[in-house]
Amino acid sequence: MDEATFHEFLVFGLLVFAGLTALGSIFVPAPYGRYARPRWAGPDLPTWLAWMLMELPQPVGFGLCLALAAAAPSAGAWALAGLWFFHYVYRTLIYPFLPRGGGLSLSVVLLGFALNAGFSYANGRWLFGLGPGRGADWLLDGRFLAGAGLFFLGFGLHTTSDAILRRLRPPGDRTYRIPAGGAFRWVSCPNYLGELVQWTGWALASWSLAGVCILAVSAANLVPRALRHHRWLKEHLPDYPPGRKALVPFVL
Ligand SMILES: NC(=O)c1ccc[n+]([C@@H]2O[C@H](COP(=O)([O-])OP(=O)(O)OC[C@H]3O[C@@H](n4cnc5c(N)ncnc54)[C@H](OP(=O)(O)O)[C@@H]3O)[C@@H](O)[C@H]2O)c1
Repeated sequence: MDEATFHEFLVFGLLVFAGLTALGSIFVPAPYGRYARPRWAGPDLPTWLAWMLMELPQPVGFGLCLALAAAAPSAGAWALAGLWFFHYVYRTLIYPFLPRGGGLSLSVVLLGFALNAGFSYANGRWLFGLGPGRGADWLLDGRFLAGAGLFFLGFGLHTTSDAILRRLRPPGDRTYRIPAGGAFRWVSCPNYLGELVQWTGWALASWSLAGVCILAVSAANLVPRALRHHRWLKEHLPDYPPGRKALVPFVL
Protein backbone atom coordinates (compact mmCIF):
# COMPACT_ATOMS: atom_id res chain seq x y z
CA MET A 1 0.00 0.00 0.00
CA ASP A 2 1.49 3.42 -0.89
CA GLU A 3 1.50 6.28 1.61
CA ALA A 4 -1.31 8.25 -0.06
CA THR A 5 -3.64 5.23 0.25
CA PHE A 6 -2.59 4.67 3.87
CA HIS A 7 -3.32 8.35 4.57
CA GLU A 8 -6.79 8.05 3.01
CA PHE A 9 -7.54 4.96 5.13
CA LEU A 10 -6.37 6.75 8.27
CA VAL A 11 -8.55 9.80 7.58
CA PHE A 12 -11.53 7.55 6.85
CA GLY A 13 -10.80 5.54 10.02
CA LEU A 14 -10.70 8.71 12.14
CA LEU A 15 -14.06 9.82 10.73
CA VAL A 16 -15.58 6.42 11.55
CA PHE A 17 -14.02 6.65 15.02
CA ALA A 18 -15.70 10.07 15.46
CA GLY A 19 -19.09 8.53 14.68
CA LEU A 20 -18.54 5.67 17.16
CA THR A 21 -17.27 8.09 19.82
CA ALA A 22 -20.34 10.30 19.42
CA LEU A 23 -22.57 7.26 19.98
CA GLY A 24 -20.49 5.89 22.87
CA SER A 25 -20.20 9.27 24.64
CA ILE A 26 -23.98 9.48 24.90
CA PHE A 27 -23.89 6.45 27.23
CA VAL A 28 -20.40 6.51 28.81
CA PRO A 29 -18.50 9.75 29.52
CA ALA A 30 -14.70 9.80 29.18
CA PRO A 31 -13.52 8.79 32.68
CA TYR A 32 -11.81 11.93 34.03
CA GLY A 33 -12.80 14.93 36.13
CA ARG A 34 -16.22 14.51 37.75
CA TYR A 35 -16.82 11.22 35.83
CA ALA A 36 -13.52 9.54 36.88
CA ARG A 37 -13.84 5.77 37.38
CA PRO A 38 -10.45 4.66 38.76
CA ARG A 39 -11.46 0.97 39.02
CA TRP A 40 -11.43 0.31 35.29
CA ALA A 41 -9.85 3.43 33.79
CA GLY A 42 -6.44 2.75 35.36
CA PRO A 43 -4.40 4.80 37.80
CA ASP A 44 -4.38 8.59 37.63
CA LEU A 45 -1.26 10.31 36.34
CA PRO A 46 -0.34 13.74 37.77
CA THR A 47 -2.16 16.46 35.81
CA TRP A 48 0.92 18.06 34.24
CA LEU A 49 2.45 14.74 33.16
CA ALA A 50 -0.84 13.41 31.81
CA TRP A 51 -1.59 16.46 29.64
CA MET A 52 1.99 16.75 28.40
CA LEU A 53 2.23 13.07 27.44
CA MET A 54 -1.18 13.09 25.80
CA GLU A 55 -0.50 16.19 23.67
CA LEU A 56 3.19 15.54 22.89
CA PRO A 57 2.58 13.66 19.58
CA GLN A 58 1.01 16.81 18.15
CA PRO A 59 3.99 19.20 18.06
CA VAL A 60 6.52 16.36 17.68
CA GLY A 61 4.65 14.48 14.91
CA PHE A 62 3.78 17.66 13.04
CA GLY A 63 7.37 18.91 13.46
CA LEU A 64 8.71 15.64 12.03
CA CYS A 65 6.41 15.94 8.99
CA LEU A 66 7.77 19.47 8.47
CA ALA A 67 11.42 18.49 9.00
CA LEU A 68 11.22 15.41 6.72
CA ALA A 69 9.25 17.09 3.91
CA ALA A 70 10.75 16.29 0.51
CA ALA A 71 10.20 19.84 -0.80
CA ALA A 72 10.44 23.25 0.89
CA PRO A 73 7.03 24.08 2.43
CA SER A 74 4.94 26.69 0.61
CA ALA A 75 3.90 30.01 2.19
CA GLY A 76 0.39 28.67 2.82
CA ALA A 77 1.77 25.55 4.52
CA TRP A 78 3.97 27.71 6.77
CA ALA A 79 0.99 29.87 7.76
CA LEU A 80 -1.16 26.82 8.58
CA ALA A 81 1.73 25.27 10.50
CA GLY A 82 1.91 28.53 12.48
CA LEU A 83 -1.73 28.06 13.59
CA TRP A 84 -1.10 24.42 14.55
CA PHE A 85 2.03 25.15 16.58
CA PHE A 86 0.40 28.20 18.19
CA HIS A 87 -2.26 25.94 19.72
CA TYR A 88 -0.10 22.92 20.51
CA VAL A 89 2.78 24.82 22.12
CA TYR A 90 0.11 26.21 24.48
CA ARG A 91 -1.57 22.81 25.02
CA THR A 92 1.65 20.84 25.48
CA LEU A 93 3.92 23.22 27.34
CA ILE A 94 1.68 25.76 29.13
CA TYR A 95 -1.78 24.24 29.77
CA PRO A 96 -0.47 21.14 31.66
CA PHE A 97 0.74 23.40 34.46
CA LEU A 98 -2.51 25.36 34.84
CA PRO A 99 -5.49 23.10 35.78
CA ARG A 100 -6.83 22.97 39.34
CA GLY A 101 -8.55 19.61 38.93
CA GLY A 102 -7.48 16.00 39.39
CA GLY A 103 -5.12 14.02 37.18
CA LEU A 104 -6.10 11.98 34.12
CA SER A 105 -6.40 8.21 34.12
CA LEU A 106 -3.88 6.12 32.20
CA SER A 107 -6.49 4.86 29.71
CA VAL A 108 -7.53 8.43 28.81
CA VAL A 109 -3.88 9.44 28.34
CA LEU A 110 -3.12 6.41 26.12
CA LEU A 111 -6.19 6.94 23.94
CA GLY A 112 -5.46 10.68 23.68
CA PHE A 113 -1.82 9.92 22.76
CA ALA A 114 -2.85 7.55 19.95
CA LEU A 115 -5.46 9.96 18.57
CA ASN A 116 -3.06 12.91 18.70
CA ALA A 117 -0.44 10.86 16.84
CA GLY A 118 -3.08 10.12 14.16
CA PHE A 119 -4.15 13.78 13.87
CA SER A 120 -0.59 15.12 13.65
CA TYR A 121 0.38 12.59 10.96
CA ALA A 122 -2.86 13.10 8.97
CA ASN A 123 -2.61 16.89 9.01
CA GLY A 124 1.19 17.18 8.88
CA ARG A 125 1.65 14.84 5.93
CA TRP A 126 -1.27 16.38 4.08
CA LEU A 127 0.21 19.86 4.56
CA PHE A 128 3.85 18.99 3.82
CA GLY A 129 3.59 16.39 1.09
CA LEU A 130 0.36 14.61 0.25
CA GLY A 131 -2.02 17.59 -0.09
CA PRO A 132 -2.36 19.95 -3.04
CA GLY A 133 0.14 22.48 -1.63
CA ARG A 134 -1.03 25.90 -0.54
CA GLY A 135 0.84 28.73 -2.24
CA ALA A 136 1.08 32.38 -1.19
CA ASP A 137 -2.27 33.06 -2.96
CA TRP A 138 -4.00 30.83 -0.33
CA LEU A 139 -3.21 33.48 2.29
CA LEU A 140 -5.71 35.84 0.60
CA ASP A 141 -8.37 33.16 0.01
CA GLY A 142 -11.62 33.80 1.93
CA ARG A 143 -11.53 30.25 3.39
CA PHE A 144 -8.09 30.80 4.87
CA LEU A 145 -8.92 34.28 6.19
CA ALA A 146 -12.28 33.27 7.72
CA GLY A 147 -10.77 30.03 9.08
CA ALA A 148 -7.79 31.80 10.69
CA GLY A 149 -10.19 34.36 12.23
CA LEU A 150 -12.36 31.57 13.70
CA PHE A 151 -9.23 29.74 14.89
CA PHE A 152 -8.06 32.71 16.99
CA LEU A 153 -11.60 33.52 18.15
CA GLY A 154 -12.01 29.94 19.40
CA PHE A 155 -8.57 29.93 20.99
CA GLY A 156 -9.41 33.14 22.89
CA LEU A 157 -12.73 31.68 24.01
CA HIS A 158 -11.38 28.37 25.37
CA THR A 159 -8.35 29.90 27.09
CA THR A 160 -10.34 32.69 28.81
CA SER A 161 -13.14 30.26 29.80
CA ASP A 162 -10.65 27.73 31.24
CA ALA A 163 -9.08 30.63 33.19
CA ILE A 164 -12.49 31.51 34.71
CA LEU A 165 -12.91 27.86 35.79
CA ARG A 166 -9.46 27.85 37.40
CA ARG A 167 -10.23 30.97 39.43
CA LEU A 168 -13.22 29.18 41.01
CA ARG A 169 -10.90 27.06 43.16
CA PRO A 170 -8.04 27.82 45.51
CA PRO A 171 -5.11 25.40 45.03
CA GLY A 172 -5.90 21.90 46.33
CA ASP A 173 -9.68 22.49 46.42
CA ARG A 174 -11.88 20.11 44.39
CA THR A 175 -15.30 21.75 44.98
CA TYR A 176 -17.51 22.50 41.99
CA ARG A 177 -18.98 26.04 41.95
CA ILE A 178 -21.14 28.07 39.58
CA PRO A 179 -18.91 29.75 36.98
CA ALA A 180 -19.83 33.33 36.11
CA GLY A 181 -18.66 36.01 33.70
CA GLY A 182 -17.34 35.80 30.15
CA ALA A 183 -19.32 33.46 27.92
CA PHE A 184 -20.54 31.54 31.02
CA ARG A 185 -23.32 34.16 30.98
CA TRP A 186 -24.82 32.19 28.11
CA VAL A 187 -23.51 28.63 28.25
CA SER A 188 -22.17 26.07 30.76
CA CYS A 189 -19.20 24.97 28.58
CA PRO A 190 -17.77 27.95 26.68
CA ASN A 191 -14.33 26.28 26.81
CA TYR A 192 -15.72 23.39 24.70
CA LEU A 193 -17.50 25.86 22.40
CA GLY A 194 -14.18 27.71 21.92
CA GLU A 195 -12.36 24.46 21.14
CA LEU A 196 -14.97 23.56 18.51
CA VAL A 197 -14.93 27.05 16.93
CA GLN A 198 -11.15 26.82 16.76
CA TRP A 199 -11.14 23.44 14.97
CA THR A 200 -13.92 24.62 12.64
CA GLY A 201 -11.51 27.43 11.77
CA TRP A 202 -8.72 24.93 11.15
CA ALA A 203 -10.90 22.75 8.90
CA LEU A 204 -11.90 25.84 6.92
CA ALA A 205 -8.41 27.37 6.73
CA SER A 206 -6.79 24.08 5.66
CA TRP A 207 -9.77 23.05 3.48
CA SER A 208 -8.93 19.38 3.95
CA LEU A 209 -10.55 16.16 5.15
CA ALA A 210 -7.61 15.72 7.55
CA GLY A 211 -8.68 19.03 9.10
CA VAL A 212 -12.29 17.84 9.32
CA CYS A 213 -11.08 14.74 11.26
CA ILE A 214 -9.85 16.69 14.26
CA LEU A 215 -13.04 18.76 14.31
CA ALA A 216 -15.23 15.63 14.02
CA VAL A 217 -13.48 13.71 16.83
CA SER A 218 -13.45 16.82 19.07
CA ALA A 219 -17.17 17.38 18.46
CA ALA A 220 -17.97 13.69 19.05
CA ASN A 221 -16.28 13.98 22.44
CA LEU A 222 -17.17 17.52 23.53
CA VAL A 223 -20.81 17.93 22.44
CA PRO A 224 -22.14 14.97 24.53
CA ARG A 225 -19.78 15.94 27.39
CA ALA A 226 -21.10 19.52 27.38
CA LEU A 227 -24.69 18.26 27.56
CA ARG A 228 -23.71 15.94 30.43
CA HIS A 229 -21.79 18.71 32.30
CA HIS A 230 -24.83 20.98 31.93
CA ARG A 231 -27.20 18.35 33.38
CA TRP A 232 -24.72 17.59 36.18
CA LEU A 233 -24.36 21.28 37.13
CA LYS A 234 -28.14 21.81 37.21
CA GLU A 235 -28.61 18.70 39.38
CA HIS A 236 -25.75 19.35 41.82
CA LEU A 237 -25.62 23.14 42.21
CA PRO A 238 -28.75 24.82 43.58
CA ASP A 239 -29.31 28.30 42.10
CA TYR A 240 -27.72 27.27 38.79
CA PRO A 241 -28.88 29.97 36.31
CA PRO A 242 -31.99 28.47 34.64
CA GLY A 243 -31.62 30.35 31.36
CA ARG A 244 -28.06 29.16 30.68
CA LYS A 245 -27.69 26.72 27.75
CA ALA A 246 -25.14 23.88 27.56
CA LEU A 247 -22.98 24.74 24.56
CA VAL A 248 -24.52 27.09 21.99
CA PRO A 249 -25.99 30.37 23.29
CA PHE A 250 -29.83 30.46 23.08
CA VAL A 251 -29.90 27.18 21.08
CA LEU A 252 -28.43 24.05 22.76
N1 LIG B 1 -10.20 18.71 21.32
C1 LIG B 1 -10.68 17.82 22.17
O1 LIG B 1 -11.17 16.76 21.75
C2 LIG B 1 -10.65 18.06 23.65
C3 LIG B 1 -11.03 17.04 24.52
C4 LIG B 1 -11.01 17.29 25.89
C5 LIG B 1 -10.63 18.54 26.37
N2 LIG B 1 -10.27 19.50 25.51
C6 LIG B 1 -9.94 20.86 26.01
O2 LIG B 1 -9.14 20.75 27.19
C7 LIG B 1 -9.55 21.72 28.15
C8 LIG B 1 -9.97 21.01 29.45
O3 LIG B 1 -11.02 20.11 29.17
P1 LIG B 1 -11.85 19.41 30.36
O4 LIG B 1 -12.70 18.36 29.73
O5 LIG B 1 -10.92 19.06 31.48
O6 LIG B 1 -12.77 20.66 30.81
P2 LIG B 1 -13.70 20.85 32.09
O7 LIG B 1 -14.42 19.60 32.44
O8 LIG B 1 -14.50 22.08 31.84
O9 LIG B 1 -12.65 21.10 33.29
C9 LIG B 1 -11.65 22.08 33.17
C10 LIG B 1 -11.05 22.33 34.55
O10 LIG B 1 -11.96 23.12 35.33
C11 LIG B 1 -12.39 22.40 36.49
N3 LIG B 1 -13.84 22.67 36.61
C12 LIG B 1 -14.79 22.39 35.68
N4 LIG B 1 -16.00 22.82 36.11
C13 LIG B 1 -15.80 23.38 37.33
C14 LIG B 1 -16.69 23.99 38.29
N5 LIG B 1 -18.00 24.13 38.05
N6 LIG B 1 -16.14 24.44 39.46
C15 LIG B 1 -14.80 24.31 39.69
N7 LIG B 1 -13.92 23.76 38.82
C16 LIG B 1 -14.42 23.29 37.65
C17 LIG B 1 -12.08 20.93 36.21
O11 LIG B 1 -11.86 20.24 37.43
P3 LIG B 1 -12.12 18.63 37.55
O12 LIG B 1 -11.01 18.00 36.72
O13 LIG B 1 -12.00 18.38 39.02
O14 LIG B 1 -13.48 18.32 36.99
C18 LIG B 1 -10.81 21.05 35.36
O15 LIG B 1 -9.68 21.28 36.19
C19 LIG B 1 -10.69 22.52 27.51
O16 LIG B 1 -10.16 23.69 26.93
C20 LIG B 1 -11.21 21.59 26.42
O17 LIG B 1 -11.78 22.31 25.36
C21 LIG B 1 -10.27 19.30 24.17
